[in-house]
Amino acid sequence: MPTYFRVKGMAGKPKLAGEIAVSGAKNAALKAIAASILFDTPLHIANIPAIEDVNRLLDILVGMGARVTREGKTITINTLPLATDILASAPAKRLRSSIVLTGPILGRYGHVRFPHPGGCVIGERPIDLFLESFERMGARITKTGSFYDIRAPKGGLRGTELFFRTQSVTGTETMMMTATRAKGRTTIKNAAMEPEIVWLAEILNASGAKIQGAGTPTVTIDGLGALAQKKGTTFVVPPDRIEAGSFLILGALLGRELAITHCVPDHLDALIETLDYCGVPIERRRNELFVRQRDTRATLRSIILKTHEYPGFPTDLQAPMTVFLTQVFGESMVFETIFEGRLNYVESLNRMGANITMMDPHRVLVKGPTRLKGKRLESPDLRAGLAFIIAALCANGVSEIANVYNIDRGYERIEERLRIIGAEIDRVEE
Ligand code: EPZ
Repeated sequence: MPTYFRVKGMAGKPKLAGEIAVSGAKNAALKAIAASILFDTPLHIANIPAIEDVNRLLDILVGMGARVTREGKTITINTLPLATDILASAPAKRLRSSIVLTGPILGRYGHVRFPHPGGCVIGERPIDLFLESFERMGARITKTGSFYDIRAPKGGLRGTELFFRTQSVTGTETMMMTATRAKGRTTIKNAAMEPEIVWLAEILNASGAKIQGAGTPTVTIDGLGALAQKKGTTFVVPPDRIEAGSFLILGALLGRELAITHCVPDHLDALIETLDYCGVPIERRRNELFVRQRDTRATLRSIILKTHEYPGFPTDLQAPMTVFLTQVFGESMVFETIFEGRLNYVESLNRMGANITMMDPHRVLVKGPTRLKGKRLESPDLRAGLAFIIAALCANGVSEIANVYNIDRGYERIEERLRIIGAEIDRVEE
């Protein structure tokens, strides 16, 4: 039975008020779960978001023999009983983040076999950086069909110098984890610098690893072997800065007095500066952001927005920000520099009444402000899916957003949490 979100538009009236708490970061939780393969002890992780991508990744590990227990938002993963080094094809194909399992498995067992990972429709999602890095560490790769078979050399993987032609978040995370099992030192140059990478290095270092430079372009990792979580400790997943940013954009459009709590304002400098430039002052508090209704909408101004690796404007906030730009005066340009397929959702916004012109696969021109009308929409991926919820709340009339799984992949109980701040949104079984 297909399910959809039914959203009653607020016709641009800023009525959302109260507090919305941010969940644990999806893209930190997934990597900590993968890191459990490097541990000789059960790994306890708290503040795990209740989302489908986490469930899928845990399913893959359990399918390989790991034991997982959950108590509320805390999970314990014991990978000691792992009985295979083969990533089951169906779940791994569906989940791009399954790629981060490959390095830890290869490092621990000396062998891994996996299918080319799936993921969103946002772009081709190559894994050449991963394969080249494994080879640089001495591994041999054979490809049969869509399966890769990777074998470490007799003496195990060797530390090496890596330079990433393009900054890659999961590439940096996977090689950082793999290198803890490679003999000697590995250096990653042109590494990604996302806060989730800094956190991952912190929890590995707290467990016996020696990783320096995480959060800078050059990361060094000494291969010291298996990791162990200190007795009685539990690692806590940091707040999801992309979820926090999505709620902040929603507040900028429709907030009367809205507090986004349990977040890290410093992780959102690019978005806060961008909204401030467009005429939406955001109040920073210790671990929350506050936005209140401005007197008139005329104060909003257009911008040339360019997505960029952290600390630049996050590609994962590009879709919600494009919705925002449909409501500001003048012509804005959105330049999506990271993925080549991440602007296709704008066609649905135009069906709602937006005025967005695709200049090329990486750039759109947004003319505003335009009045949006409720429509039947299909969320193509999780970030555009949330952008559709924001657009539907801005619109006049009712929208129906299908493919709720794509939104449940990365946002926990989103309709319940939005209702608390005044949104009229329900999950409907068709
Ligand atoms: C991570 O994806 C995130 N996913 C993405 O979030 C996020 O959009 C992306 O980083 C960029 O911030 C997870 O962490 C699970 P990349 P990742 O490797 O690591 C190219 C979400 O919605 N590239 O940093 O897969 C690639 O094509 C998701 O939560 C290669 O060329 O992205 C892209 O153009 C969507 N070869 C660029 O690098 C490679 O081997 C950056 O991609 C790997 C990547």
